[in-house]
Amino acid sequence: MARTVWRSSLGKKTVMAVSGIVMLLYLVAHMIGNLKIFFGPGEFNHYAHWLRTVGEPFMHEEWTLWLIRVALVVAVVAHAVSAYQLSRRDLRARPVKYVHKKPRTSYATRTMRWGGIILGLFIVWHLLDLTTGTAHPGGFQEGRPYQNVVDTFSTWYGNTVYIAAVLALGLHVRHGFWSAAQTLGAGSRTRDRALKTVADVLALLLTAGFVAVPVGVMTGVVS
Ligand code: HEM
Repeated sequence: MARTVWRSSLGKKTVMAVSGIVMLLYLVAHMIGNLKIFFGPGEFNHYAHWLRTVGEPFMHEEWTLWLIRVALVVAVVAHAVSAYQLSRRDLRARPVKYVHKKPRTSYATRTMRWGGIILGLFIVWHLLDLTTGTAHPGGFQEGRPYQNVVDTFSTWYGNTVYIAAVLALGLHVRHGFWSAAQTLGAGSRTRDRALKTVADVLALLLTAGFVAVPVGVMTGVVS
């Protein structure tokens, strides 16, 4: 049964929708948490420490964080694998290009594919930059994320990479949220306009919230 569902295009689209929503929930929380940077190093570093102790004493240190990490990895892999398989299917359904210059895929499909690849690469870089510190400019300081964030956004390439990725994220969420709602059956003639507005507002809030951090460092509000 599960196999049949997974093999169908609707099954893969459902996996994309559900894993997308899981990542979206994480991103909303991450964006809100990041805004604590505007309240100074004490509050931001305290929040980062809390992330490692959530659920104590029931949970051991970092258990909750690791649960979240595992859920995110599962979501990222499921999202990427079904996206890849759906696009292979698309190509097989139309192996020959149109005679006229019309592209094989729509503008939205192409931006979603490229956007997804850009975000995947960004996440790897972001983890090396601010989680492991492997690719961090200057000396990475374990347990002091405030200073690490300020270091990153004190470089031109840090600002460029993050802002470009966050803009790609906004576009991806705008279309992705809408597609997920359609796949999960929330769309209808009367609801579609409202769903588009929710997608726009969500994408805009996420983009603005994430971009505020590099802009805050660049303007000296955060230093
Ligand atoms: C300006 C934008 C962003 C800033 C300032 C930022 C900041 C940070 C910081 C400081 C950490 C390390 C937290 C810690 O170890 O305590 C982190 C982790 C992380 N960020 Fe971001 N982030 C941004 C955007 C994003 C975006 C757009 C994504 C996803 C598309 C993302 C995904 C993640 C993930 C997956 C982690 C790892 C969490 C973990 O396993 O510990 N971040 N971010």
